[in-house]
Amino acid sequence: MINAKKPKIWYGGDYNPDQWEKEIWDEDVRMFKLAGIDVATLNVFAWAKNQPNEETYDFGWLDEMMDKLHANGIGVCLATSTGAHPAWMARRYPDVTRVDFDGRKRKFGGRHNSCPNSPTYRRFSEKMAGKLAERYKNHPALLVWHVSNEYGGYCYCDNCAAAFRDWLRQRYGTIGEVNRVWNTAFWGHTFYDWDDIVPPSGVSEEWRGANGRTETNFQGISLDYRRFQSDSLLACYELEYDALKKHTPDVPVTTNLMGAFKELDYRKWAKKMDVVSWDNYPSLDTPHSYTAMMHDLMRGLKEGLPFMLMEQTPSQQNWQPYNSLKRPGVMRLWSYQAVARGADTVMFFQLRRSIGACEKYHGAVIEHVGHEHTRVFRECAELGGELNRLGAELLDSRVKTKTAVLFDWENWWAVEMSSGPTIALQYVKEAHKCYDALYRSRIPADVVGVEADWDGYDVLIAPVLYMVKPGVAEKLEAFVSRGGTLVTTFFSGIVDENDRVVTGGYPGKLRKLLGIWAEEIDALLPTQSNRMVISSGGWNGMRTEYACGMLCDLIHSEGAEVKAVYGDDFYRGMPALTVNKFGQGEAWYLATSPEQAFLNDWLPRLCMGRGDAPLLAEAPEGVEATLREKDGREYLFVLNHNADAARVDLGERAGTELLSGQKLAGTAELAGRGVWIVRVGG
Ligand code: GLA
Ligand code: ZN
Repeated sequence: MINAKKPKIWYGGDYNPDQWEKEIWDEDVRMFKLAGIDVATLNVFAWAKNQPNEETYDFGWLDEMMDKLHANGIGVCLATSTGAHPAWMARRYPDVTRVDFDGRKRKFGGRHNSCPNSPTYRRFSEKMAGKLAERYKNHPALLVWHVSNEYGGYCYCDNCAAAFRDWLRQRYGTIGEVNRVWNTAFWGHTFYDWDDIVPPSGVSEEWRGANGRTETNFQGISLDYRRFQSDSLLACYELEYDALKKHTPDVPVTTNLMGAFKELDYRKWAKKMDVVSWDNYPSLDTPHSYTAMMHDLMRGLKEGLPFMLMEQTPSQQNWQPYNSLKRPGVMRLWSYQAVARGADTVMFFQLRRSIGACEKYHGAVIEHVGHEHTRVFRECAELGGELNRLGAELLDSRVKTKTAVLFDWENWWAVEMSSGPTIALQYVKEAHKCYDALYRSRIPADVVGVEADWDGYDVLIAPVLYMVKPGVAEKLEAFVSRGGTLVTTFFSGIVDENDRVVTGGYPGKLRKLLGIWAEEIDALLPTQSNRMVISSGGWNGMRTEYACGMLCDLIHSEGAEVKAVYGDDFYRGMPALTVNKFGQGEAWYLATSPEQAFLNDWLPRLCMGRGDAPLLAEAPEGVEATLREKDGREYLFVLNHNADAARVDLGERAGTELLSGQKLAGTAELAGRGVWIVRVGG
């Protein structure tokens, strides 16, 4: 567990004293203590200060700050400062800046702006991490390493092009194999020499399309470039990781992720992280179930181990189009939502609000007024007090579920790079539709990858499993054979890991398992819809018809039982939902994208049919529930996202509510935006 050195839910966040005059430092520390803050993330963007030129390193300010924090009982999440390179580096070594999608060589500016294949960046960032680790390895304030910051962005420079060719040589061996897997005979794109290969960008194979999509002529090269860029940034992270571990083998290392961030294959990244951490920035209208799914996605990156909530705003963002304030109680509620789903830290961006540049209107624990008499500070201090009182009790407890939603980054890239059948298909949205149906019923689900161990699950939901990578079909077959229930949806089983269609009939390698053949795929206009008509005998309490649309697979049963058929168009009467018995289990195919109500009605029933149960007996919409477990004890979290009080029936789970000390059993009233953490049984 990461919190061992400070056994409580860590509370604090990004603190940038390097951007201020020293006069305020003591005042800051005084207010941190008032707010119950016990961890500060230092040095995130201080490279320019720490290394004012190639030869000079100067950590004076950091020494002083680390000592001061420690003397006041505050630990440090120490960043390596490599998220933005110093100006001298860009001036002296132009290879450090990137070339963008449109082929323009970037000049100094911005952040997260270094070319991941720049020898300069790699050399200096690794060296910086090593220097920091050597210097602070015995510092008592050091709790955890925070490498760089929010890695992201792609580069298309000549160094990246050369490294891409090496990466391809490693992966495919010969240029002939590259031509085969990318299907370059199409449009006469055959490569004769490795040097013919250039990064797919706005000046070669790709362009910006509608709906925020990047379009490409060749999915094969575009997929590999994404893998390669993700790997390149990961290699930079690993250089720093190793440099840190050399001096501090026992200090955990992380880098802050961003939820469903498309550019990086976080499943690969998480393997190299000691603990997952992430930055949570919902807006006023983000569905609570979406935030919940993001927490679960992050928890699922490391087999359900607790994660760090590295950043959230105490009050408002600056970078959204409309930066609403978090209403009273909402910061606390959303903090506990993270804890409810596996976070063992609650941290902010930022502890003190900056006065210049683009984040001066981003909320902070200490606002521009500079004192503690603000609504935001009071709410932060109240939460700080509560987290102190909670102590170590919840630490390292785990969320256990019987159901998992599959989420795969490479599949995501491929689904949204495919030219046809529709630009309306958004992978995250389809995954969220399934997740939301379970969330509303308070049936907990993990969000895991295709490479995860699925042994503990009874139900696997694999929305739009378009790309079936080697071994995955066999793994799914094994899961179902031994009694699992699989649900997959339209446009699944179509391509291999290079986006090459598996011939012989859709859904390719899933055909036997699903017992169907999809002959054609219809894309509907946004104004069109079809109907799913539930076959007689349907399900108790469900409607007999639901709207569906976007994509409709025209399928034939090859042994699967038909549970619903299309109601309209020339394929009226063809199957829209099927189930195939396979070994001890069953595999469902939902051939179209249904209205949300269908999933809300159907998926929970399916899970309950497998012995899963909602966490609450009764509660109005907007009341969320999760369960964390530790040493045979259950902790039931109940979160009321509504502004009004809610009557909640806890069912069998009675116990002591940890925040109030109150005993709770049966039905009770939970205040608007209120939170319960019930220690079940006493
Ligand atoms: C990100 C970054 C921070 C800051 C915040 C603002 O999460 O990591 O440095 O820019 O956004 O919301
Ligand atoms: Zn580059």
